[in-house]
Amino acid sequence: MCGLFFVLVTFTLGASAFRLQQVKSTENCPHHTVYFKHYYELHGEPVVLKCPSPRYKHLDFSALTPNITWYKNGSKTMISGRDEDPRIWAKGDALWFLPAMLEDSGVYICTRRNPSYCAEVSIHLTVVEKTAAQEIAYLQVLFTFTSGKIVCPELWDFTPNRTSLELKWYKDALPLEADSGKFVILKGSTSLIVNSVLPTDSGYYICKMSFPFEGVMYEITRTIHLKTVEKEKGITPIIVYPTQKTTSAALGSKMTLPCKVFIGLSSHIHTDVEWLANDTTVDVIYKKSRVTEGGRQEIVENGENFIEVPLIFDSVEEVDFYTDFTCLAQNRYGYQVLPTRVKQEAVGLSWYIAMTPITLACIIVGGICIHKCWKRKADKGYTTAKV
Ligand SMILES: *[C@@H]1O[C@H](CO)[C@@H](O)[C@H](O)[C@H]1NC(C)=O
Ligand SMILES: *[C@@H]1O[C@H](CO)[C@@H](O)[C@H](O)[C@H]1NC(C)=O
Ligand SMILES: *[C@@H]1O[C@H](CO)[C@@H](O)[C@H](O)[C@H]1NC(C)=O
Ligand SMILES: *[C@@H]1O[C@H](CO)[C@@H](O)[C@H](O)[C@H]1NC(C)=O
Repeated sequence: MCGLFFVLVTFTLGASAFRLQQVKSTENCPHHTVYFKHYYELHGEPVVLKCPSPRYKHLDFSALTPNITWYKNGSKTMISGRDEDPRIWAKGDALWFLPAMLEDSGVYICTRRNPSYCAEVSIHLTVVEKTAAQEIAYLQVLFTFTSGKIVCPELWDFTPNRTSLELKWYKDALPLEADSGKFVILKGSTSLIVNSVLPTDSGYYICKMSFPFEGVMYEITRTIHLKTVEKEKGITPIIVYPTQKTTSAALGSKMTLPCKVFIGLSSHIHTDVEWLANDTTVDVIYKKSRVTEGGRQEIVENGENFIEVPLIFDSVEEVDFYTDFTCLAQNRYGYQVLPTRVKQEAVGLSWYIAMTPITLACIIVGGICIHKCWKRKADKGYTTAKV
């Protein structure tokens, strides 16, 4: 064991569910899903949205080479190939923006169709000014007084060849000295090794990658908000999900909002996680009926402890749009609260929106040994709501 111990928690969280139904290929998809992963991107940079691939019981959708089409919500025209619009184009399961601009923010709907099934998914994209990069930073956590690594997230769509990967790293806008002893920049890797993490290492890190495409050089920038926590001491729980301040849902739809809490090495039993509605326990305000708190899951991922407690809406009603929901996590070292709102989704009136969040893409890197590569769970594990 080389004693390298690190934890990485990114904001990349996806969750979804799909209603599938047998359809004729010419018909509109009767059902619709909202993908939980919300893309936050910078103005002027390349962006790729991927149409999530549902797994439905034994059926592997991805193997069926479905016809995938993309629309922007509110627009009737299908997004075409590259020859028609060199800036925004669809190719396979990906929607490319080269580059994305502020006005591209919105909801994109991809439809996966094969001769017998149809799944339609809406994906939120928010493009912000470069000056607002810190507002969309990815949260990562490292333990102090040990080594750890910071990972530049969401690059693989732009780097088919790992060996050619080269990143520039900055802390608080100053370039990091490669191999300075403190930081090690690994070639061909998205990681930055931090030796002997100190509390002062917390802050904002930037990684930049060049992306040449047909003679034009683009730049991809990711901002990471690094928090450091003491490993030996018990830590205040850190809520890693939800990260969005709002979640869209349609009236009448079923929805599950997970609250996922990182507690490091602290024992599960000493941490409470609960959902409040208007500052009152959910089970009290909703009388254990339409909106309830689901069972608590105690999770161990790569040696780190997490607790997840879902908030379950059997059917979203209007009152929920006016209610403050808060996830509260506490142990004897402290507490964290995370307020969130449900807002009305309006992608077509007659569609049911079924959502069953699964915690997917929290990337938890907890290798005892550096050779044990971190595993990425993003874009895996869809479940299906009732058909
Ligand atoms: C895919 O579906 C769209 C819209 O239904 C249709 O216009 C297009 O021809 C289809 N493409 C293929 C390859 O089937
Ligand atoms: C989709 O577009 C419609 C009409 O422009 C709008 O009313 C609705 O709010 C949009 N939905 C989302 C989720 O943005
Ligand atoms: C990918 O990496 C290999 C090995 O380093 C190299 O030979 C090849 O040219 C690279 N391909 C591209 C497209 O960069
Ligand atoms: C929460 O408070 C808001 C504002 O006072 C109110 O409109 C809403 O009905 C309350 N929610 C519940 C579930 O009682």
